[in-house]
Parts: sequence; structure tokens; C-alpha cells
Amino acid sequence: MTAIARPKNLWLGRWGFVLAATGSSVGLGNIWKFPYMTGEYGGGAFVMVYLVCIAAIGVPVMMTEIALGRRGRGSPVDAIRRVVRESGRSGLWSGLGWMAMLCGFMILSFYVVVAGWAVSYLWKSLSGGLAADSVEGMAAIFGANNANPWNLGFWSTLVTVATMAIVGLGVQAGIERSVRWMMPGLVVMLVVMIVYAVFSGSFGAGVQFLFAFDPGKLTGQAILAAMGHAFFTLSLASGAILTYGAYLPADRSIGRTTLVVALCDTLVALMAGLAIFPVIFANGMDPASGPGLIFMSLPLAFQQMPLGGVIETIFFLMLTVAALTSAISMIEATVAWLNESHGLSRARAAWGVGVLLWIVSTLAMLSFNVGADWKLAGRHFFDWLDFLTSRFLMPLGGLGTALLAGFVLRRESLEEELGLPSALYALWRFTVRYVCPVAIVMVFLDALGVLNAGFDWRWLALVLVLAVSVEALLARLARRA
Ligand code: PHE
Repeated sequence: MTAIARPKNLWLGRWGFVLAATGSSVGLGNIWKFPYMTGEYGGGAFVMVYLVCIAAIGVPVMMTEIALGRRGRGSPVDAIRRVVRESGRSGLWSGLGWMAMLCGFMILSFYVVVAGWAVSYLWKSLSGGLAADSVEGMAAIFGANNANPWNLGFWSTLVTVATMAIVGLGVQAGIERSVRWMMPGLVVMLVVMIVYAVFSGSFGAGVQFLFAFDPGKLTGQAILAAMGHAFFTLSLASGAILTYGAYLPADRSIGRTTLVVALCDTLVALMAGLAIFPVIFANGMDPASGPGLIFMSLPLAFQQMPLGGVIETIFFLMLTVAALTSAISMIEATVAWLNESHGLSRARAAWGVGVLLWIVSTLAMLSFNVGADWKLAGRHFFDWLDFLTSRFLMPLGGLGTALLAGFVLRRESLEEELGLPSALYALWRFTVRYVCPVAIVMVFLDALGVLNAGFDWRWLALVLVLAVSVEALLARLARRA
């Protein structure tokens, strides 16, 4: 059987999808969010759970999203609708696509603010505005940058405009071309910074912090945060990967592609950690300083290293580009949907969504200045956008995707699309049927305090053993029948 719809857009180059998907997943999540979350949740234990979640949940869900996108050839709503129809199931599952679009929009609304920080630091670095000789001095610069809504609003607006312009240009011209040179450049910058960190004195402390596994630090909230971040960093459940998958040529291997993207993403996050924590410890800074962590610590390191000024500028340039290649992917689903299902041109769709985005992101931006006191249950609007997407929408979307692939669709549908050797296919299927749903539900329950005594992995083992037995039994019965 062939794919059920003809693709309109396809990636041009052999590496088009890999570049774009890596561009989407490698972003502020790796360089800004991963280090500060690791700092907040106490280091190695968080990192460990994060890595397990990437491997056990992130990779299979990413494969599923790419397969769904490629089989349905369209925006998440349309693609999922086509794929469930093909299996004779309810079109209501396309609700997952709606949720993904909402999630991508919400993420982008706070993401442009952080990307605005990156661009403003690029500017500061060019204009000599990042000079301070202590962590406190850097913190003051960060604070002053946030305090003026006109200043911060200017930078986030700039990012919004750039994002919409690229998305409006389209898949090949806009997205594919801009990611081609970014990844290698970013990696080179990180290597330079790690080399500096090795010689700066506190490299050991940084490594120790990142990799020392202390299970005592694992609270339910930390596990949920790590799982949510695994979704975030791989751009899952937000329409990005699924929509990019819709442009993937039929002859590419989904499994291999996924592994490359997930590996690159993980490597960049770990490299960012290795570049950042030694600086933090060398300067007596608190790793739990929150979202400003990299903006307060790195400029200090740049100042001390030879050629630091140049490296600083290149670094913030790369960070800006990494943020942009992620930003465009968050809104691609919505733009593709407006374009395919409502006949709007891509440019119109992008600018229309852009106006809405600008309003919501401006509200998020105000969390750092005039709206500093506008809090609901202790969180700013900015924090709420982050919290709701990473801790609820994405894990829920991942759960829905796993259930859809594992139990709802006809088996042949994704089996054909994935084209895996049979042992690997069995592993994937088992993972989406049991590992992902069980793990996600248990992490939720644990975070809600339902499982009380912290997360007990024996429960997971028990449920999995039961599931395997039932699966084996059912398979045997089916063979008899
Ligand atoms: N993965 C991106 C990052 O790490 C963020 C992202 C989330 C991109 C969701 C697209 C969709 O920065």
C-alpha cells in the first residue's frame, strides 16, 4: 500500500529532514533550559532520569510522530485524521493534532521572550554592554535588560517578526536553508567553551554535578520535570516533528533518522552542561539561579578567556540561530494547517498567527517587568506557559500518540510506514503500547502525590511483566483463532 495522500512539500536535500528536525530539537531547550533545570533539580539524578526518558519515551514517540506525519502527509490535524480514517477509526483522534498546535503556540509565546534575551545579548556583546567582573554584576545586567518593557518587548518582537518571515517563506526556502550552517557552528562554539572549562579549574566539579547520581534528590516533581523536558527538547507533542515528518521522502528510514536527531540533541545538551557548570562553580555561583543562569554565568567566562569577545559574539549569534530554527518549527503545524485546510497562503497564515502570537508573547514578556506582581498560584504568565506545556500538554500528547499508535490504528498502517526489521518493530510496538503509557501515567500520579513514597520503579516492572504476559496470551489466542 502507498501513502494515502500526495505530499505537497518535500525536503530537498538528502539531509533536509535531519537538519530541520535537529534544528527544531536543538535550541534554547538544550542550552538555556537544560542547564538551569539541572541546577534547580540538583544535578545528576535529574540528568539520569532525563536520559532514560529520552531513550524510553522520547525516541519511540518521535518515531511515531514522524510515521504519522509521513503517512498522513499534512498538518497534525489533517494527517492524524487521514491516518485514523484509513484504519476505520474515529476522526476524534485528530483532537491530538489540535492539542499539538495549541501546545506549539503556547511554547512559542514564551520562547520568543527567551530568544529575545539571546538576541539582546548578541547586541550587547557587539556593543560592549556585557562588562562586569562578578556574578552580581552580570546578574545586574540581566535584571536591567528585563526591567524595561520597551527594551525587552523590542527584542521579543524582533524574534516574532523573524520567525514569521521565515515560516512565511516556506519549507525549502525558509526553513531548510537557514538550518544548514547553524548546527556545525553551534557545536564548534560549545567545544571551544568546554576546552576553556577544562582549563579554568572547576571542570571536575561540573562533571561531578552533572553525572553524580544521587537518587535521594529524586522527587516526583523532579521526575515529571525531567520527563516533560525530554518532550520539550525533542520538540514532541507540539506539531513540530509530526509536520516535518509530513515532508519526509518515502524512502528515508524513520528509525535511523530519529536516532540521529535524538543523539545530536542529547549531545548538545550535555555539552552545554559541560561548558556551563564549571564556570558556575569556578565563580561561586548558585547552580539553582533559575532562568537567568546562562546569561549570568557565560558572559563572565567569556571575559576571562583569550579572544573572549569574539567567542562571546559568535556564541550568542549561534544561540539566536538555534532559537530561531526551533521557533519556526513550533508554528509550522498551524501555518501548514491554515494553508492546507483553509486555503490561506503561507505568508498570510504566518502573519495572521504572528499578530496573535505577538499579543500573547507580550503578556509573557511583561512577567519580567510591569507584570512582576501579576501572579496566579505563585506563577507568572510566562511560568504558566512553560509549566502547562512541559508538565501537562506534552506528556498528555505523548500519551495520546502512544495509545493511538499502539492500540487504535491498524497494525499494518505504521508497520509499513516505519519499515523496521521485525525485532525492532516489536520493540517499538511494545514500547508505545506499554512502556510509554505506563511510565507517563505513573510519573503523573507520582507528581500528584498519589504514589506517595516517591517513584518506585518496582511498580513499573510489575505492570510491564503483567502487560507482557497478557500480550503473549492474546497473541497465542489470536494464532489459534
Ligand atoms: N526542542 C526545542 C528546544 O529544545 C523547543 C521546541 C519545543 C521546539 C517544541 C519545537 C516544539 O529548544
